[in-house]
Amino acid sequence: MPDGDSRRLVLKVAIAITGASGGIYARRLLEVLDVEEVLLTMTPDGLDVLKFEEKVAGTLEKFDPAALKPRSPVRYFHYKDYFAPIASGSNAYEGLVIVPCSMNTLGKIAGGISDNLVVRAADTMLKERKKLILVTRETPYSLIHIENMARVTRAGGTILPASPGFYHRPATIQDAVDFVVNKIVRALGLPAVMPDWGK
Ligand SMILES: Cc1cc2nc3c(=O)[nH]c(=O)nc-3n(C[C@H](O)[C@H](O)[C@H](O)COP(=O)(O)O)c2cc1C
Repeated sequence: MPDGDSRRLVLKVAIAITGASGGIYARRLLEVLDVEEVLLTMTPDGLDVLKFEEKVAGTLEKFDPAALKPRSPVRYFHYKDYFAPIASGSNAYEGLVIVPCSMNTLGKIAGGISDNLVVRAADTMLKERKKLILVTRETPYSLIHIENMARVTRAGGTILPASPGFYHRPATIQDAVDFVVNKIVRALGLPAVMPDWGK
């Protein structure tokens, strides 16, 4: 643990935002994730949907992560910047969370396509046997979506759909969001941000 902070984990995590509904999950994840460093990137459609749903400002060229009030230090990279650390297998990041993950990005990853930093980083995580967590958002799923999810799962990725449970009796949207964010944090191998179920 670094001096002066007994809780922050010495760990680097990458987060990518794509053009599915649910930027609120990314925003909340950034708010609670307490690590050494977060690398953030987003696709053009990711930024468009984020702006539409979360009312944040910014451009792909100049996105200020402070708009999302992150708890940890964040380094932002353009989605075409293949000089970013996560474009290479030899990077220091524990894993990549794509949140929300569109069916387009899921399909690209399942097909081995690496034509932007998000899918290239996913490709490197899989080949290096590191954590890749896709917070998918679509309903209903087509067989193509399901087969793509199966393919990524077989390759070592985790499909973590944005489907909150209701057994913890959420009273607000934030409570439902926190349920999913807690699942993401746990899938990264980090301490829960919500109490675990049961005794
Ligand atoms: C408001 C809005 C909401 C969208 N929600 C979803 C969604 O939940 N899931 C999805 O797969 N695509 C969704 N899309 C469509 C994607 O943005 C589109 O397929 C895009 O090509 C995804 O590109 P990306 O994977 O590079 O981000 C949405 C688009 C808009 C404008």
